[in-house]
Amino acid sequence: MKPTRVLKIDPQHIATVLIHEAADVLRAGGLVAFPTETVYGLGANALDAQAVRGIFAAKERPGYDPLIVHLAGAESLAEVACRVPPVALMLAERFWPGPLTLVLPRGPRIPPEVTAGGETVAVRVPAHPVAQALIRAAGVPVAAPSANRFGRLSPTRAEDVLADLDGRIDLLLDGGPTPVGVESTVLSLVTPRPTILRPGGVSRESLELLLGRVEVLAQPVRPQEVAPSPGTLSQHYAPRAKLILYEGPRDALLAALRKEALRLHGAGARVGLFLASEDLPFFEGLPLIMRAAGPARDLETVARQLFTTLRALDEAGVEVILARDFGAAGLGLAVRDRLTRAAGGKVVRVT
Ligand code: TXA
Ligand code: MG
Repeated sequence: MKPTRVLKIDPQHIATVLIHEAADVLRAGGLVAFPTETVYGLGANALDAQAVRGIFAAKERPGYDPLIVHLAGAESLAEVACRVPPVALMLAERFWPGPLTLVLPRGPRIPPEVTAGGETVAVRVPAHPVAQALIRAAGVPVAAPSANRFGRLSPTRAEDVLADLDGRIDLLLDGGPTPVGVESTVLSLVTPRPTILRPGGVSRESLELLLGRVEVLAQPVRPQEVAPSPGTLSQHYAPRAKLILYEGPRDALLAALRKEALRLHGAGARVGLFLASEDLPFFEGLPLIMRAAGPARDLETVARQLFTTLRALDEAGVEVILARDFGAAGLGLAVRDRLTRAAGGKVVRVT
């Protein structure tokens, strides 16, 4: 296949010719990768079953994992969902455009390819100006998973998209790095109580301010089991290196991490550490490869840098990554979720 065409686009000064070109590709049934505020998405016309099958082929994504439908605004909800409960409108009012995905009863125009044959549809309105402009210009709902190969780290930069999908998709809009860095929060409104199926860019706490208690789906379901949200499979968002996550009070956690890192190093392994900035001095002078995602109290930075930091460790050629946890408050829950999945469930709890 020929290399993917890349169009550089400045999110602050959007060149409408480029947007129209990309919108034409979508309307013609092609695949366009584009920046959202969370991660890059791989878009196709959500009403075109053939085009949607192209997404699954390009990503090598199994057909049982449904896609999120992206709209330019909440006024288009009725086109994709057959019933929009008042709570959905309330959430849309507060959080859209933004990193919140709502699971609603599927509307009749959405082909089964999008929903993996299910009777629900996941919908969101992205806040990124390039995503907004593209969806408006296309004039159709846009189905878009993250623009990576299935199971790999999500892409937060155009180069990450190309590393996985060059030659497999028609067009890539390069709008620079994505500001949030973790995917949207997926919230089901078809369960008895609103339930977070995947923690993400909108925190549980901010949802609870509006909704009262919100359930969080218990952590990774094993592959093969029927998952309520198939993206909750463990062994997802994975770097090439094997990853082990450490949870617990900071001092004990760092001591355990250091001990294990030195043991593995002694056994001949190339060991990488995924840390907070303030942890770095604790490991100074040791023969370990260290990367910090940001200060532990600045979870927005940590979330933004999460995937690029894991990629940097992969690029440094480490075989094992020992990662520290960042707690469950705010964006910490999404960071923990991604690290737990990258670890395939291998979590060490120190006390
Ligand atoms: O931030 C995001 O959500 C990014 C950007 C591109 O919008 N998209 C994204 O898509 O992360 P994807 O396909 O990588 O993850 C979508 C998640 C998966 O865990 C999938 O199983 C879940 O949403 N999902 C999609 N439709 C669903 C449905 N009808 N019911 C339950 N879960 C659903
Ligand atoms: Mg994904």
